[in-house]
Amino acid sequence: MVMYSTEHFYDGLQALEREDSPLDRRERLKAMEKPLLFWYAARARSLPWRDKPLPYRVWISEIMLQQTRVEAVKPYFERFMEAFPTIRALAEAEDDYLMKLWEGLGYYNRARNLKKAARILTDTYGGCLPASFEELIRLPGIGSYTAGAIASIAFNIPTPAVDGNVLRVISRVLGDREDIRKASVKGRMEMELKEIMPKDKASQYNQGLIEIGALVCIPGGEPKCGECPLYSVCLTGRNGWWKEIPYKSPQKKRRIEERTVFIIEYQDKVAIHKRPPSGLLAALYELPNVEGRPLAGEVPFVLGIKKGQVESVTELPASRHVFSHVEWHMTGYRVVLRPPEDKNARTVFEGKAEPGCDSFGENVGEGLLGWLFVTREELAGTYPLPNAFNPYTKLIG
Ligand code: ADE
Repeated sequence: MVMYSTEHFYDGLQALEREDSPLDRRERLKAMEKPLLFWYAARARSLPWRDKPLPYRVWISEIMLQQTRVEAVKPYFERFMEAFPTIRALAEAEDDYLMKLWEGLGYYNRARNLKKAARILTDTYGGCLPASFEELIRLPGIGSYTAGAIASIAFNIPTPAVDGNVLRVISRVLGDREDIRKASVKGRMEMELKEIMPKDKASQYNQGLIEIGALVCIPGGEPKCGECPLYSVCLTGRNGWWKEIPYKSPQKKRRIEERTVFIIEYQDKVAIHKRPPSGLLAALYELPNVEGRPLAGEVPFVLGIKKGQVESVTELPASRHVFSHVEWHMTGYRVVLRPPEDKNARTVFEGKAEPGCDSFGENVGEGLLGWLFVTREELAGTYPLPNAFNPYTKLIG
């Protein structure tokens, strides 16, 4: 049996809704304010960006928290702040170092946009974030949610911050079955919240909604209605509609790409490759890989090296990685290269491979160009390798 303890905890704070005169949308939203602020004051988690909500910290945390859980973000946030303590420092960040610090968080465009925005802020705003929703939203990587979050949390400006958490909470409170994937649904919610949110407590109000979405009105499971300060005004809580609301239309199918990944070992080094400057995982490093499923015997040809240069080819396990619009279905091979017979031969495997550099004789295939042979330590410490390759990087000896 569910015990609705909120009735005592929030005594006197609740909107008393009469059956013969239900609240309209606006009244229902307005009625959230007192219990929400009361609950947030009592229950808010202590979080590094929350306890010291300086604009730069709020910005970085909000960007990291997109698509990443709070607990996973914490160590990244602390490291990032140590590495780039100011917006100016971020503007001058070295790209590979920035990406290395971001490694594991995924969605690397977030980090690229942070640096682009930091440059604009340094050039035009004296290295500070502007206290204005309209100016914040013009910066790279900042949409209406993030602009609203920074404006409200860091500057206490009464602008809503509607992310997936807030969409879920508000749709449920209102019993709204509209598709939350629609921009119009989010737009309407932003307008409605802007009208009714308290003018002097924007920070607590928005964080309260986000916090309820994270801790009580949780995604992907039964909400903890017994602990919810909004229970008394929530149509979904009262009617048990949580499985149906929010409604989210099915996502478009992702394209599936079959890829074969190579761990190419030469003495104590492995080959990596820098990806092109635009497109998926732009300018990050990767283990060499090709589209399709070559057979073991075809591997030297596919890599553009002579059979005689290959000591062994062994199969690696299959794995998958899901990006937003594409899924990689991967298999792999470990390829161990043989040292040249002529001990004095200069080999492409010694460092950066360059066009025209002779290796084991005349055959420098296309595949070798652009490979970089690095030690395990260099791989771990210097080169940003996306999570997609984790199942294979962990197999590197
Ligand atoms: N998720 C998104 N923004 C957040 C914030 N400011 N605090 C906690 N969780 C969040």
